[in-house]
Amino acid sequence: MTGIGSYDEIAARRYARVESRPDGFALRLAPRILRLFDGQRPTRTPTMLDIGCGTGQLTDFFRAAGFATVGIDRAEAMLRHRVDDRSGHRGPVAVADASALPLAGRFDLITATFNVFNHLPNHAAAAALVDEVARVLAPNGRFVFDINTTAGLRYTAELVETHTGADDVTTWTRRWSDGRLMLDASGAFVDDDGNWVRYEERIVKIAITIADIEGWFAAAGLGPPRWLSDDLITALHEPEQHGVAYGVAGSAPIPDAAEAAAPAVE
Ligand SMILES: C[S@@+](CC[C@H](N)C(=O)[O-])C[C@H]1O[C@@H](n2cnc3c(N)ncnc32)[C@H](O)[C@@H]1O
Repeated sequence: MTGIGSYDEIAARRYARVESRPDGFALRLAPRILRLFDGQRPTRTPTMLDIGCGTGQLTDFFRAAGFATVGIDRAEAMLRHRVDDRSGHRGPVAVADASALPLAGRFDLITATFNVFNHLPNHAAAAALVDEVARVLAPNGRFVFDINTTAGLRYTAELVETHTGADDVTTWTRRWSDGRLMLDASGAFVDDDGNWVRYEERIVKIAITIADIEGWFAAAGLGPPRWLSDDLITALHEPEQHGVAYGVAGSAPIPDAAEAAAPAVE
């Protein structure tokens, strides 16, 4: 299976079609992230940076919600197939590495969703991403992200899964290799012209523990992430035991998930 790319042209076309649906990962999460700002919106236009924005469904959602958004992604094809082309209100995006952001601004909200951390090449790159977030996060800003825990990656490595939808089918085959999950996807989807298109992709996910993440946040001078379930309210007391853990962090510890809201952003 060598030579199969990830997030290349065909994969990006599929992502824009399939993952941008309302029941896709980013759009299910988006209103829950927005709720963190309920009643706490700054009087000026809030700013949002979406790291590993892919085809941009999250940036599109937040732009529609009144945020000034910026998206960055390493994969040029993903940015080329942005879903916001359909809604007609494009925001700025840049081809860039999450570990070396070409940005000087400060952002009220920074996101890295759908296991962007696990997509990085190694732990040094992940630690550098946290350093970059610390550099560009506004003083009362929030960083919202999710990771596949190591337990979650190891568990799914035993599974072969097929998803069959009305206009897409994908089989995921996984293999644990040298501390990484090798994820091979193979299937087909209906494109914008109504034609079925074959699709293959390999994604490599690195293993990251909760302790790794917390160490990088401490080293970067950020408060420890508050670990939550996917409702972004319920605290996870043993996040490593969950396949996916959602983190919300700021420059100081996040006080209490029950508040379900970030402190005022000035
Ligand atoms: C699973 S997709 C998530 C896309 C989007 N955040 C979402 O929620 O739908 C992972 C994204 O991370 C991007 N990515 C992987 N490594 C990256 C890196 N080093 N720098 C920037 N983006 C990266 C990929 O190109 C891909 O678009």
